[in-house]
Amino acid sequence: MQTLAECNPVIELSCIMVIFGGTGDLTHRKLMPALYNLVYDKLLPEKFAVVSVGRRDKSTEEYRNDVYNSLQKYSRNKIDECLWDELKERIHYFRLDFGNMEGYSKLNDFLQDLDIRAGTGGNRIFYLAVAPDYFDIIVQGIQAGGMVNNEKAWARLVIEKPFGKDLKTARKLNNKILEVFTENDIYRIDHYLGKEMIQNIMVLRFCNLVFESLWSNKFIDNVQISLLEKEGVSTRGEYYENSGAIRDMVQSHIIQILSLVAMEPPVNLRTESIRTEKLKVIHAIDEFTPELLRDNVVFGQYGRGMIDGVPVRGYREEDKVPDNSDTETFAAIKFHINNFRWAGTPFYIRTGKRLGAYSAEIVIQFKSLPNILYFRDRAVQEPNLLVIRIQPNVGVFFQFNTRNFRTNQEIVPAKMDTSYSSPASGNTPEAYERLIFDILRGDATLFSRWDEVEASWMIADKIIEYREQKRFRFPNYDAGSMGPVKAFELLARDGRQWWDSEKFSLLKIDNI
Ligand code: BG6
Repeated sequence: MQTLAECNPVIELSCIMVIFGGTGDLTHRKLMPALYNLVYDKLLPEKFAVVSVGRRDKSTEEYRNDVYNSLQKYSRNKIDECLWDELKERIHYFRLDFGNMEGYSKLNDFLQDLDIRAGTGGNRIFYLAVAPDYFDIIVQGIQAGGMVNNEKAWARLVIEKPFGKDLKTARKLNNKILEVFTENDIYRIDHYLGKEMIQNIMVLRFCNLVFESLWSNKFIDNVQISLLEKEGVSTRGEYYENSGAIRDMVQSHIIQILSLVAMEPPVNLRTESIRTEKLKVIHAIDEFTPELLRDNVVFGQYGRGMIDGVPVRGYREEDKVPDNSDTETFAAIKFHINNFRWAGTPFYIRTGKRLGAYSAEIVIQFKSLPNILYFRDRAVQEPNLLVIRIQPNVGVFFQFNTRNFRTNQEIVPAKMDTSYSSPASGNTPEAYERLIFDILRGDATLFSRWDEVEASWMIADKIIEYREQKRFRFPNYDAGSMGPVKAFELLARDGRQWWDSEKFSLLKIDNI
């Protein structure tokens, strides 16, 4: 990671980060630990302050204590009291009811006053860590409070997903925001883009001849993207009921990952060059007709089951979820990308909650060689697999065939796994650290541009409409299983299988 000192010196980094939703879960679990770890790694500018805005009545002292407790729980680095003192002094709490427009002028006065004390020069990051219902009103408040009128300073808006609920609401929200901020100052978060191995996709592809020269339908049989979780919806039943797996994971994280895997090399590493190539992939995704939806999409919802030996409830029994809910907690989809590089090579994706595995990975399955010299009597030739492990292990896995020197005849797959030895393993920075660091630097590469979001909604809307028109026999998979049977049939029909992370041994080279 580039340090601030190495960044372009003309970029003014000093600023106040205003977090709306300062008492919320995201702030305590992710944002504050990220800020602490940036202090730890000496990546925060000297002139920097945080103003957490929340509806609860609290003093700054009380708020700082809450943050301290959260850091103890969620920070990846241990809390060093000296560093905490350094961060603590910069954190302030401001009480505001989001609907109270006059309150925003007072917030503005507070920020201007703090600018003088902290030397932050009027620069602002406005971070909306609130439920989507408040996005619009807060942006209006920021404008009404005169917080974006400073011509000598910059103001950036950071907005969490979901960006809208469908194409229509996303467009409406975007238009509202554009009345106040320009596209260049809007940072739409997709926290997966901040994960180490997601950033590594482009490096693996464009810095390794052995991969990039084979990176097409000529040599790749299929691509699989699996984001699997053991967690259920926990306390988020209300949000999830209006979301489901397609809005929650596919429209954002999965389409973003898919576009990075499939895109053409950008002409350079500038933000807009990369985003433009990603967008072309999203546009090339085959439009879903009713027939394609019927054949290529599987929905699931978990029933009761066991996770790691502990009995858990079914989705319909979760808090704030109706007992006849038809919301999908699992989705498996076969995407076709209709361009020269990918026509004929399917991209299978799956994501789900309460599954028997926790892992996020991309599997590239290469085509097999003809079984002429070897494997003549055996049906199975293990394919070459390249696996980009996003979490919980971080690194790259590669499978290739070799002789088994013990038996002297057999051909076996060797499994090379860099997950432990790769520099990316170990105490890697959390996605939010990278993302906040980039917002400070004004680098929007890891954030979604509006046209990418718009194109993703066009795809997601079709899938969601189809799900809403149909009645499904839910629940159709047990908690702790690997999802509905139909998800396996989706690949079996094509003579393929999901590559299961459990199968990828963690030994560097085994089986030989
Ligand atoms: C969020 C979704 O965007 O991503 C959650 O809203 C999901 O439902 C989470 O659990 C997964 O992120 P991670 O980083 O834990 O894999």
